[in-house]
Amino acid sequence: MGEKMRLDRLVASQFADVSRADVKKLCLKKKISVNGRLMARSDEKVDTDDEIIVNGERLVYKKHIYIMLNKPAGVVCSTKEGDSMTVLDLVPEKLMRQGLFPAGRLDKDTEGFVLITDDGELSHRMLSPKTHVPKTYFVRLEKPWEESYREVMAAGMTIDGLREGDSEEKCLPAEFTGSCENVCECTLILHEGKFHQVKRMFEKLGNKVVYLKRTAIGEMPLDRDLQLGECLEILHKDVEKLLAVKC
Ligand code: URA
Repeated sequence: MGEKMRLDRLVASQFADVSRADVKKLCLKKKISVNGRLMARSDEKVDTDDEIIVNGERLVYKKHIYIMLNKPAGVVCSTKEGDSMTVLDLVPEKLMRQGLFPAGRLDKDTEGFVLITDDGELSHRMLSPKTHVPKTYFVRLEKPWEESYREVMAAGMTIDGLREGDSEEKCLPAEFTGSCENVCECTLILHEGKFHQVKRMFEKLGNKVVYLKRTAIGEMPLDRDLQLGECLEILHKDVEKLLAVKC
């Protein structure tokens, strides 16, 4: 048994461009059936597990949706439309619904894994400083990395404040791995998300980030086949992997 809900609310919640009034019109046009029965009224209560057919297509109710986006540079992690393209502009029509937002932010010039969802509770859990969900970054530096970075970062380094006059900020211990193949490339795992954190950490160490990509959130890596700008729907049980971390 699923959840009991008004038909119009249920159907409208699954699409960005279908209102409750539209559901009423669809019922009048005999375009919606539930468990084989044509629905004349859109305010009737149905079960979310019922077999609901809209315009000839089975609607599989999902309380929330979770989307993995491989964000390209130049796109902002915001829901607001401004001059720049937002991550929501990259969500394909079939995955679009009301209330979507990016759970966490990457800088405009950062690429990689952004989770887009309408699940506020999960987003809160994922971003809470108490949960410490690890985020993995591939980093390319201006100058070769130094062995000393590992120890400094593991101890929890201090970074400068964002603006002049702001006090320094203490970071949680982070895991640093230098690449064997390229001395300017490395991987960093953070357990928090301070603004511009990766860039500020390397700046403090006298280096500079020239390219940044988030490659994993929690236990879930960015899908290797997902091209920049592409989205992939992920299942709720898989999203729980994001949070499968030691707190
Ligand atoms: N750290 C940064 O500096 N930028 C990001 O986008 C993410 C982490």
